Amino acid sequence: MTEEKISEQLLTVAMPKGRIFDEAVALLRKANYPLPPEFDESRKLIIESPEAGMRFILAKPMDVPTYVEHGVADVGVAGKDVLIEEKRDVYEVLDLKISECYMAVAALPSYNPNADIAPKIASKYPNLASSYFREQGEQVEIIKLNGSIELAPIIGLADRIVDIVSTGRTLKENGLVEIETMMPITSRFIVNPVSYRTKSVQIDDMVARITKVVEGGE
Ligand code: PRP
Repeated sequence: MTEEKISEQLLTVAMPKGRIFDEAVALLRKANYPLPPEFDESRKLIIESPEAGMRFILAKPMDVPTYVEHGVADVGVAGKDVLIEEKRDVYEVLDLKISECYMAVAALPSYNPNADIAPKIASKYPNLASSYFREQGEQVEIIKLNGSIELAPIIGLADRIVDIVSTGRTLKENGLVEIETMMPITSRFIVNPVSYRTKSVQIDDMVARITKVVEGGE
């Protein structure tokens, strides 16, 4: 078999760069996937691990479901926050129980929710935020930002923010307070629906190995 043919058979795994990455790599290593040392030091965006039968692509967390939906990645690791926001056509097959955090509404302590008719809400998650407030029956204006969301109320761009809270440090150090807890968030294992059929042996094996680690709490 040619090298190209062998590489075609690799399972392509989309990994989120950033805060989830280290925990996701640790989880795969616990599941006995021999991940190359490049994972720890390289800036490469594609890392092949023929021994593990895998090719990894290192993507922005918000883009992982996009790669998986389009089938250029067979499987991936994505936060529940991203899955709710992006609504991509992927199977969410396993709660990895890593990168635990939650989604919350926050504001300055002086903020009076009753004083606003159509409050401005800044968020990296415009779809999630607008469906949340729609369900609450509250009319709001959503302002999409790409990060450093906590700046928005301080600088007067928004009245409230919708963002993830992990340790709570960012809110605290920027003088904001949480006013509503919205939903718990963890990372999920997602699968492309076509790959689930065509590469079922590899994917089922991966799901079984990871499930064992997640359930064993190793
Ligand atoms: C996330 C989130 C909060 C912060 C919460 O930002 O948007 O700002 O982490 O974490 P904490 O509760 O532990 O302080 P991230 O670091 O991903 O960067 P960003 O501002 O670019 O979104």
